[in-house]
Amino acid sequence: MVLNRALILGALALTTMTSLCGSEDIVADHIGTYGVSFYHSYGPSGYYIHEFDGDEEFYVDLEKRETVWHLPVFSEFASFDPQDGLRNIATAKHTLEIMIRRSNFTAVINKVPEVTVFSKSPVMLGQPNTLICHVDNIFPPVINITWLRNGHSVTEGVSETSFLLKSDYSFLKINYLTFLPSDDDVYDCKVEHWGLDEPLLKHWEPDIPAPMSELTETVVCALGLTVGLVGIVVGTVLIIQGLRSGGPSRHQGPL
Ligand SMILES: *[C@@H]1O[C@H](CO)[C@@H](O)[C@H](O)[C@H]1NC(C)=O
Ligand SMILES: *[C@@H]1O[C@H](CO)[C@@H](O)[C@H](O)[C@H]1NC(C)=O
Repeated sequence: MVLNRALILGALALTTMTSLCGSEDIVADHIGTYGVSFYHSYGPSGYYIHEFDGDEEFYVDLEKRETVWHLPVFSEFASFDPQDGLRNIATAKHTLEIMIRRSNFTAVINKVPEVTVFSKSPVMLGQPNTLICHVDNIFPPVINITWLRNGHSVTEGVSETSFLLKSDYSFLKINYLTFLPSDDDVYDCKVEHWGLDEPLLKHWEPDIPAPMSELTETVVCALGLTVGLVGIVVGTVLIIQGLRSGGPSRHQGPL
C-alpha cells in the first residue's frame, strides 16, 4: 500500500514534469513537482522551483546563485545545490533559442489573468489580518502585482509566492498584504499583464456587519422571548391533548 503510493507519487512527479495535461486524470494524495524551470526571452529571465502539493518549497535565485526556501525552517532538514537549478536554466535557455527559430519567431499568446482578493481570516476591526490576492491563469509568467491602500501604493507588509505551475502550463501567483482592518481603509490589488488592456484593479473593503442599534436589539429580544413563550404554551397544550387522546381513549369502546 505504502509502496503503491510511493510509486504513484514517483510516476506523478515524472508525469507532471513531462506531460502536465495528463496529471489531472491521476488521483493521488500528494503531488510534488520538482525542477519546474522556465526561461523567457523577455528580460531575459528564468525561474527554477520545487513545489509540493501546489506550495512552493524553494526557488533558486539565479542572480545570487542561491537556494531560497519558502519557509526558512525547511533549510534545517533539506538542502539543494543551486548549481543544479542554474544548469537547468542554462538548458532551458538553449532550448528556447532553438524553439524560437523552429517556430519561425512566433510570439506567445497572452492569457487573461483571473484575480480574486479575500482576507485570510474573518475581518474584525482592529484585529491584524492578511489580504490575499490570488492571481490565476498567468501566461506568460511576466506580471506586476501590487497593493493600493485608498488609492496609494503600499510596499510594507507585502510578500508573494513564486510562479506556481498549473496543469495547463499557466501559472498561479499569490500576493499577501498584512493589514489592520479599519472603517476608513479600502484596498485594491493591482495587476499588470500583457493579457490585459489596462492594469486591473481588484477592489476590496472590509465587510463589517453594522452593529445593531439598541432599539433593534430590544425588539429582537422581545420577539424572541414572545416566540419562546408561545412555543412553551402551544407545546404544553399539544402534549396534554396527545396524552388525552392517546391514553384512556384508546381503551374506550362501546359498552
Ligand atoms: C517564416 O516567416 C516569414 C516572414 O513572416 C515567412 O515569409 C516564411 O514563409 C515563414 N516560414 C515558415 C516556414 O513558416
Ligand atoms: C511592470 O512594471 C515595470 C515598472 O513599472 C514596467 O516597466 C513593466 O512594463 C510592467 N510589466 C507589465 C507586464 O506590465
